[in-house]
Amino acid sequence: MQILAFNGSPRKTGNTSALIKAMLKGARSAGAKTTEIRLHDINLKGCMGCLTCRKRPGKCKQQDDLSPYLEALKTCGGAIFGTPIYMYHVTGQMKMFIDRCYSLYVSKQDGSGYTSAVPPGKTFALVTSQGHPDVERFQKPIRWFAGMTGGGLGMEEVGRIIQGNSHLAPAKTDEALLEKAYAIGRKLVKRDEA
Ligand SMILES: Cc1cc2nc3c(=O)[nH]c(=O)nc-3n(C[C@H](O)[C@H](O)[C@H](O)COP(=O)(O)O)c2cc1C
Repeated sequence: MQILAFNGSPRKTGNTSALIKAMLKGARSAGAKTTEIRLHDINLKGCMGCLTCRKRPGKCKQQDDLSPYLEALKTCGGAIFGTPIYMYHVTGQMKMFIDRCYSLYVSKQDGSGYTSAVPPGKTFALVTSQGHPDVERFQKPIRWFAGMTGGGLGMEEVGRIIQGNSHLAPAKTDEALLEKAYAIGRKLVKRDEA
């Protein structure tokens, strides 16, 4: 099975990247194939607001480097969504990705909300990193982040890492945190599907 990781940090060797790397290592150890999508490094365009996806559910008219990965979300086994906290919220790169995910939300006929174009049975995990020491500090945007990605798309959350105090305790040297990430990565892989 395929595990995708959408990384909203511009820093290749930063905290979010180290934690995602550990999660993907865990997923591979459980038999998965993994792909990391570094949103900062691909040709990523924002949502055009064309609303074509309201008529063609599951299809985004915007064509760029993200297009194949939006499609891959429908066939993968699970996904990681990771971002640093910038200005009390997700990074701009992650917000652009989330706006594009609107194409994966199918409007209900009666206007009462949305269903998901992503088939059920998939797992997801969350990674966030922040300078602030209190890991409860950005609870609201992190709840929103989970809801707009895996949660809203009907995936089952298997774990999350909210790293605080990142400048004093960088993730890449925090063995306990890396181990936790590795264990969550293993949980992303459903035993019967590896
Ligand atoms: C533009 C910018 C805005 C930031 N805003 C916040 C913030 O609102 N709250 C916070 O705790 N840390 C903030 N930080 C610190 C980052 O969240 C922190 O350094 C994080 O570990 C970076 O993750 P990375 O190493 O994966 O890039 C900000 C950093 C930058 C560059």
